[in-house]
Amino acid sequence: MKPPAASLVRRFRRCLLAWYGTHGRDLPWRRTRAPYRVLVSEIMLQQTQVDRVVPKYLQFLRHYPTLRSLARARVDEVRRLWYPLGYNIRPVRLHAIAREAVARYGGRLPDTAEDLRRLPGVGRYTAGAILSFAYGRDAAVLDTNVRRVLGRVFLGPRRLARVRGEKTLWDLAEALVPRGRAYDFNQALMDFGATWCTPRKPKCLPCPMKSFCATYPNANGRA
Ligand code: ADE
Repeated sequence: MKPPAASLVRRFRRCLLAWYGTHGRDLPWRRTRAPYRVLVSEIMLQQTQVDRVVPKYLQFLRHYPTLRSLARARVDEVRRLWYPLGYNIRPVRLHAIAREAVARYGGRLPDTAEDLRRLPGVGRYTAGAILSFAYGRDAAVLDTNVRRVLGRVFLGPRRLARVRGEKTLWDLAEALVPRGRAYDFNQALMDFGATWCTPRKPKCLPCPMKSFCATYPNANGRA
């Protein structure tokens, strides 16, 4: 797919960041840049709603405030503390990441995509989240919400239906990240997808993107 026109990219960035200034959520993991805390939040947020994650995130960090304290814990204790978040391979992987970070990286999380993706259960999304949220790098993220937003705004239903695989949307997500602003931009994309450009009943009428959205006015009722 051709990359979007530079003027469209600029409009999208400007609109999204302005929207985030007004509607962005104050979430506990947005008050830190500590890589370990970013990691815990991102693993918890996989497949789990924000309001269920918030109390568990705070409890988990009280119990295991550092990567080293998590690495020292027994895995069954970590699994117990994880309850009732579900998708229970996650605490096991998180614990394995902590042990590996201690064994191989001196108790810190690595700061390159290659090294991050060697850690258990860390894919392109989680690596991008850690790079942009903890290390301030210009890395892209693409999860279900971001995919939907980019698909709607930049592709529209017909082109989206022809997309095969992940490359088109990852290329798009990467082309959009504004240099030096990946943190706010990625957090904004996630909030916009989770609270505004939702699968059902997206808020299209008041949407600041509607004048250039490839799906407007037909997103209602369709993902
Ligand atoms: N889902 C995944 N990562 C998130 C984040 N940092 N903020 C809100 N929702 C998310």
